[in-house]
Amino acid sequence: MNIRQLSVHEKPPMELLLVADPSPKIVESYLKSGRFFVAEKNDQLIGVYVLLPTRPQTIEIVNIAVDEPYQGKGVGKYLLQHAITAAQTMGYTTIEIGTGNSSIGQLALYQKCGFRIVGVDMNFFLKHYEEDMIENGIRCTDMIRLSQDI
Ligand code: COA
Repeated sequence: MNIRQLSVHEKPPMELLLVADPSPKIVESYLKSGRFFVAEKNDQLIGVYVLLPTRPQTIEIVNIAVDEPYQGKGVGKYLLQHAITAAQTMGYTTIEIGTGNSSIGQLALYQKCGFRIVGVDMNFFLKHYEEDMIENGIRCTDMIRLSQDI
């Protein structure tokens, strides 16, 4: 597997980005200033993550997705570790990520990768998403914010 940053001339993989974030409006909001990284295996796209500078010294992973057949095999963890190293190399001192209160697996994965819960953006998904989202039998209503110093 090879991970590389997309050049400005390459199209971001919209289909995969929308797997992680079903809101086209939110995905579009970081198309211009996000830095897109893709994981490829035998010239096939298997994963993506997006880094977005949000404040001085702070960058956020605003999207991370692994193509379904490749999920659960360590690719997501590898992408997160790659994102942390890329952010460090770019000189950032804090990296952030957010996920839904119902995304149990993602919350486990992010904490395994060193992120700590720092807050809750109450009602985020009720405000920004039209459709109800249920995961693990839990209604997705709030965004759990996680952060780590790097
Ligand atoms: N409890 C404890 N640990 C859990 C868990 C749970 N319920 N669910 C998952 N995990 C852990 C696994 O055990 C594994 O950790 P380990 O390596 O220590 O065993 C880790 O989480 C999963 O790692 P990995 O195989 O690298 O994940 P992945 O390649 O499937 O990538 C996603 C993770 C989330 C990027 C991927 O599943 C995906 O694209 N999902 C759809 C899009 C999405 O939800 N994106 C994130 C939006 S916030």
